[in-house]
Amino acid sequence: EKGGYDHFMLKEIFEQPRVVKDTLLPRLPLDQDEILLDGISLSKEDIEKINQIYIVACGTASYTGLVGKYLVERISRIPVISEIASEFRYRDPILDENTLMIVVSQSGETADTLAALRMAKKSGAHVIGIVNAVGSTIAREADDVLYTWAGPEIAVASTKAYSAQLCAMYLISIKIAMELGKISVEEFRELRDELYAIPKKIETILEQSDKIKELAYKYKDSKNVFYIGRGLDFAVSMEGALKLKEIAYLHAEPYAAGELKHGPIALIEDGSLVVGLLAQEELFDKTVSNIKEVKARGAKVLAIALEGNTEIEKTADEVIYVPRTHWYLTSILENIPQQIFAYYIAVGLGHDVDKPRNLAKSVTVE
Ligand code: M6R
Repeated sequence: EKGGYDHFMLKEIFEQPRVVKDTLLPRLPLDQDEILLDGISLSKEDIEKINQIYIVACGTASYTGLVGKYLVERISRIPVISEIASEFRYRDPILDENTLMIVVSQSGETADTLAALRMAKKSGAHVIGIVNAVGSTIAREADDVLYTWAGPEIAVASTKAYSAQLCAMYLISIKIAMELGKISVEEFRELRDELYAIPKKIETILEQSDKIKELAYKYKDSKNVFYIGRGLDFAVSMEGALKLKEIAYLHAEPYAAGELKHGPIALIEDGSLVVGLLAQEELFDKTVSNIKEVKARGAKVLAIALEGNTEIEKTADEVIYVPRTHWYLTSILENIPQQIFAYYIAVGLGHDVDKPRNLAKSVTVE
């Protein structure tokens, strides 16, 4: 049932090219300049009325919201609040009929996410669910559902479901931008071509898994690990650090690179590992200067950078390259090495990768 892989997690990591195709391609016909969002009832007029968007979820699914916030605000100029469901539900958030609420859930059964959905519906907001489990409670109760076609995810640590959620977020955010006239047909075609190229690009990252495994074994005894980045890289850092905590039980923190010197850099010492995320071209120099600061304090640095940006080799101890794509889509590619790295650290430390201690696959109580 593991298809020859040692663990479900590894199998699911390697399924990602297929998952991305299934989630994206049927919705992006090449003979139309349109995105076909089956299950979404919002009209152009409805979209024009939206005055704010909440993206609410838990854990890994909530990081889809952080990526969505960057994308929607930058292109469509609608304010987006990306929030954890357990906080959202107890703080009396401001919602009205012009609010669009997007909830994200693999299982479709997460108690806090479901409670957030119900609150939003009560206030008259329109709720879209990005859901993986067909017919789950969130899928049934949301006004609209955009399914992620990841298939059953068995490993407790989410991998392929997250990549599929990112795909769904790319589609919704591009759809909103198109309806608002914020991107041209040419720009849409360019994004569509890049989306079509994502599965092959994921394959080229998967081909580097032996190299990533070596790095994981080399750094598996690190005492504390920081994941740093800016912008979309910062959003991706959240997922990298969570994977390491969940399955490798390593203390890992995601940090906005520019925020390090406001406190946490005091923790950097010999033996610290810093994973530097560098897929935002316009922020590259800024993050590199933060990387130099942690190097000067004794950290080892593993950089995840775009192919061709070889100058990072002068600063970082190790570099994993990911293929170039449209800036809009970097997060999905950049995350794959983080998954493989966490997986092999957990294996190297001898942990039960698919069933980490204290965790359940679906959190149906708060
Ligand atoms: O089923 P959901 O997507 O609603 O679950 C949300 C989180 O519990 C989940 O993503 C969790 O953080 C995973 N263990 C992450 O690997």
